[in-house]
Amino acid sequence: MEERIDSLGAEGQRAFQSAASTAELEAARVRFLGRKSELTQLLRGLRDLTPDIRGQVGARANDARERLEAAHAEALARLSGLVAATTRDVTLPGRRPPVGHRHLLTSVFREIETIFRGLGFSLAAGPDVEDEAHNFTALNIPEGHPAREESDTFYLQGGAVLRTHTSPVQVRTMERNPPPIRIICPGRCYRNEAIDATHHVEFHQVEGLYVDRGVSLADLKGTLDHFLKAFFGRKTEIRFCPSYYPFVEPGASVDIRCFFCGGKGCPVCGPLSGGWLEVLGAGMVHPNVFRAVGYDPEQWTGWAFGAGIERLVMLRHGVPDVRMFLESDLRMLRQF
Ligand code: DAH
Repeated sequence: MEERIDSLGAEGQRAFQSAASTAELEAARVRFLGRKSELTQLLRGLRDLTPDIRGQVGARANDARERLEAAHAEALARLSGLVAATTRDVTLPGRRPPVGHRHLLTSVFREIETIFRGLGFSLAAGPDVEDEAHNFTALNIPEGHPAREESDTFYLQGGAVLRTHTSPVQVRTMERNPPPIRIICPGRCYRNEAIDATHHVEFHQVEGLYVDRGVSLADLKGTLDHFLKAFFGRKTEIRFCPSYYPFVEPGASVDIRCFFCGGKGCPVCGPLSGGWLEVLGAGMVHPNVFRAVGYDPEQWTGWAFGAGIERLVMLRHGVPDVRMFLESDLRMLRQF
């Protein structure tokens, strides 16, 4: 009987291994492992044997059965692998590989670029590591001006600085090109600030510069009105307030009416703002800046503006903390 068990086991394993289709395998399974198979019958007949023989033969038969089941499972895996490899169910939904996308700040830069390209502006760029002449002096920021102090500016060895704003790109562009000029310059800036929810040592600005004959404050107002409405929405209310920047005269800070509360006062615009949010600085290019780049201020006039990108984006998208832009946290990045 034990011999018969062994030969059934071997025969069955061979049958499973050589099965060329799932149908053939199933037939072999019925034959060697099915309820009416010889092995099952044999196991069933064990109860008629004496206990010691029953133990011996039973162990052998169970052994054979286990090996057959393993061989069957293996053959099944082999055959279904074949099936999977040779047939394609084209109706199944595809599996999308994860695809990245632009960072929120990058897409906002592109958006601003598109708005200004539509007005005939082109893109300009300058170095992040600047010299004091471009970052300050040519912009009419004299020595001793608070903006030059250690507390705000990162000074590098040899007198270089990390640019504290994108305004030096105005200077570089005018030095290299005769008027008329119409550029915007998006870029990264650095200031030695204590980092908190609204301040970072590394942030972004976009600078705009328009120089030609007869450029007026009305041009500045019209352009910024168009820009801010394109960016924040058609109904955005805009106001210009006198302000001081050394490189413009007159200078203005530009506010938009708080679109969260409509100007009633809320946690976003603060109780003292009267419902206005400052979004950028601007003004008419100072004659000293023109002189520094060799333009004749009697012939040319121009305006400039500078806006902090993080602030614009935080307001429009309700991002509560400036640190989120640089943290590369996917939970933040995937939302935009
Ligand atoms: N550079 C200024 C800053 O970093 C922003 C600015 C204000 C730029 C007025 C300008 C301007 O071009 O006209 O705060």
